[in-house]
Amino acid sequence: MTAPKKLFIKTYGCQMNVYDSERMAEAMGGQGYVQTQTADDADMILLNTCHIREKAAEKVYSELGRYKGLKVAKPDLKIGVAGCVAQAEGEEIMRRQPMVDLVVGPQSYHRLPEMEAKIREGKKALDTDFPEEGKFDKLIARPKAKRGPTAFLTVQEGCDKFCAFCVVPYTRGAEVSRPVDRVLTEARDLVERGVREITLLGQNVNAYHGAGPNGDMGLAQLIWALNDVDGLERIRFTTSHPNDMDDALIEAHGDCPKLMPYLHLPVQAGSDKILKRMNRSHTAASYLRVIERLREVRPDIHISGDFIVGFPEETEEDFQATLDLIEAVRYGSAYSFKYSTRPGTPAAERPQVPEDEKDDRLQRLQALLTRQQRQLQDDMVGRDVSVLFEKPGREAGQMVGKSEYLHSVHVTADGVSPGDMARVHILESRTNSLSGQLI
Ligand code: SAH
Ligand code: SF4
Ligand code: F3S
Repeated sequence: MTAPKKLFIKTYGCQMNVYDSERMAEAMGGQGYVQTQTADDADMILLNTCHIREKAAEKVYSELGRYKGLKVAKPDLKIGVAGCVAQAEGEEIMRRQPMVDLVVGPQSYHRLPEMEAKIREGKKALDTDFPEEGKFDKLIARPKAKRGPTAFLTVQEGCDKFCAFCVVPYTRGAEVSRPVDRVLTEARDLVERGVREITLLGQNVNAYHGAGPNGDMGLAQLIWALNDVDGLERIRFTTSHPNDMDDALIEAHGDCPKLMPYLHLPVQAGSDKILKRMNRSHTAASYLRVIERLREVRPDIHISGDFIVGFPEETEEDFQATLDLIEAVRYGSAYSFKYSTRPGTPAAERPQVPEDEKDDRLQRLQALLTRQQRQLQDDMVGRDVSVLFEKPGREAGQMVGKSEYLHSVHVTADGVSPGDMARVHILESRTNSLSGQLI
């Protein structure tokens, strides 16, 4: 028997890439690879990349530069680039970095084993097709190994929304939903392997419309079906678009026992003029109405969002409208970014906001968001929350888990293991976490 080959995967970008990397590692297991945690001892390195902002894309080339020495020392080392940069740049990657052996776009991952066989013969392999056959159902290896208490499960991929700033519709392709029975099978497998909480993933996960036994099912129906899976304790989903928050999904937040009271609902900006130019197809008021309805059915729900500052032609007044919207919503957490010009997207052609103005706006926006986040976290002190424990903490005897609102919660207690759920009385709020005692 020959020793297994070692595969090092480095993952950038969103949760969907994390999920894809797991699937690719499983698929490569069939080619005799085991995963390793360092590039140094790898026989193959795979970068799973992100193209969302300029910095994300440039990281790939600087990381590849670092592998030059490794390839000289070990000429058999194979280097591959997957993910959204692979899709966007294709062959260009091999031109800029000739030591790259393989380039594979997100919709072709099921072809990775054949591609690996090809590069082992010393050839190059490139695949950035959007093939007809669905990658997922060919990619699922269904291993039985135990795993941690939380998992991602991609149910929808791609985007038809074409926001004026965004590369995702070009890198991930059109919206596709996986059939309900496949999702349920994968969820049951995960639960058998120790998973207690599943986060359903999609670039527009609430646009989900997967084939079910009696026609297409929406995300709310899928969540209700998952609610019946024994052993599964918690359901989350991300990322959602405000326009796809239909009545059934809003109501599920009030009625569905396993659906967590937390929602990531990006808005990007608070000025209707900017939202229109972003091609977001919702207004600040329609977004606020969705939040209001969610709070009617689930008053304790925590809202999280994404923001872009310095979108082309954003004035100080427009920016102020974003701050006003944030004041109105009160976010439990948020991600905020300076607008980054992406070649090939419509906004790249518009008059740009100067960099120092973007910096200034980002600082002011983040100061407000941090204040809100801290306030909502501090408000948890004295309350009881449910915690799903994930791993030991830094101090002896400590365990860390997540509340239903996704706060990290520390507890010092005997006999608590990863995967356990317990009620915890919150005693203290620290910079990025809460601590408390078991009830
Ligand atoms: N599908 C999700 C998220 C897509 S990308 C949605 O519609 O919300 C994640 C976040 O990256 C976006 O919500 C947006 O805030 C940010 N983003 C996307 N393109 C960007 C760009 N060109 N510059 C800066 N931020 C960007
Ligand atoms: Fe990008 Fe907009 Fe699609 Fe989200 S909805 S992935 S921001 S184009
Ligand atoms: Fe990045 Fe692609 Fe995800 S561009 S954010 S890895 S969909």
